[in-house]
Amino acid sequence: MRPSAKTNSSIALAITMSTFVGVLLSCSVTRPPTPASPEPAAARFPAVAPPLADVANAYVLAGQRALPVRKGEDVHGLHNLFQLSANVWSGSEPDGEAAFEELARLGVKTAISVDGKRPDAELAAKHGLRYVHVPIEYKGLTDEELLQLAKTFRECEPPFYLHCFHGRHRGPAAAAVGRLVLDGAAREQVIAEMRQWCGTASDYEGLFRDLVLKPMPTADASRDYVFDFPAQRSFGGFREAMVDAARRHDALKKLEKRDFAIDPAHPDIDALESAKQLADTFAISGTLAEIFDRPADFHGWMEVSKVETVALRDALQRLRGGDATALAPARRAYAAMTKACIDCHQQYRNH
Ligand code: HEC
Repeated sequence: MRPSAKTNSSIALAITMSTFVGVLLSCSVTRPPTPASPEPAAARFPAVAPPLADVANAYVLAGQRALPVRKGEDVHGLHNLFQLSANVWSGSEPDGEAAFEELARLGVKTAISVDGKRPDAELAAKHGLRYVHVPIEYKGLTDEELLQLAKTFRECEPPFYLHCFHGRHRGPAAAAVGRLVLDGAAREQVIAEMRQWCGTASDYEGLFRDLVLKPMPTADASRDYVFDFPAQRSFGGFREAMVDAARRHDALKKLEKRDFAIDPAHPDIDALESAKQLADTFAISGTLAEIFDRPADFHGWMEVSKVETVALRDALQRLRGGDATALAPARRAYAAMTKACIDCHQQYRNH
């Protein structure tokens, strides 16, 4: 029986749709999309080291394998930069256009941000780099995040540049996933690189623990997982307030060492402006409905942050007006605010 015209057009539509989906879900335009019946995915990637057993403290274990001493490089707006393998680089958030130029010069093809901040995908694209945004938390890696990372490593174009804000904790943990799934590296090796080279701190034992104890997605599992490789994700709300607070706090941390005076090397960073924005951030985020149900100590630290950022702003305003006696209260407010960040994270973010 001849197929009817209707059947023909639905076949055509189905083909068009599947091509469309294929284009949407494939990561790199320079690589052909995965064929309909591919060779077994496992054949194309190295075997991933199985999880270790009986690890009491993964941070301690990360100190035990002796690695040669290496220090991160600081070049053109990239900080704490390490080439971990032919496939994987780790470092800080690219700071300005020169940083993307440098990444392109290094041959990097795909940048993966695991920070909460929306990446500058347009600037990256100008330099031929593709961004994939997989924000992770400090407490550890969820199974979903591992699938997103493994799929990106296996299907986007290498080499990869993994970054968070400073390139010390979450970025190196995600880079370690790349070392496991692309390079077939040993579990003990990747956590040693995090701790001994990149400087991932003991506060984030959860990141170390997941890298040694969790099974990594198999090549078949990541191939079958549906993910559209988003270049940018936005959160809004409390998480975005935190992303913003981190940048302002970082500026203040640098300037505190100079009695909050402008650094001629970075005239664009202003302590008073940063303190004003931080005070606004805490005033607004303290009213967000999403934190209403948080426990009393959380609200206590929010209150300290609110009061101390206002005190800092006012002291810096007086200092700017020539009142040198305002330096001591500015320092005190800065320290009290910083302590609230650390205390609250210790309780509600890092574990
Ligand atoms: C009252 C508690 C509290 C205070 C105070 C606080 N934070 Fe946070 N912070 C959190 C929590 C909870 C998260 C995790 C939020 C999430 O991922 O949704 C977080 C997340 C973050 C993140 C990660 C954002 C990302 O990229 O995903 C950074 C960076 C951060 N905070 C910086 C700061 C800085 C800097 C300060 C002080 C100026 C501060 N925080 C004060 C509770 C707090």
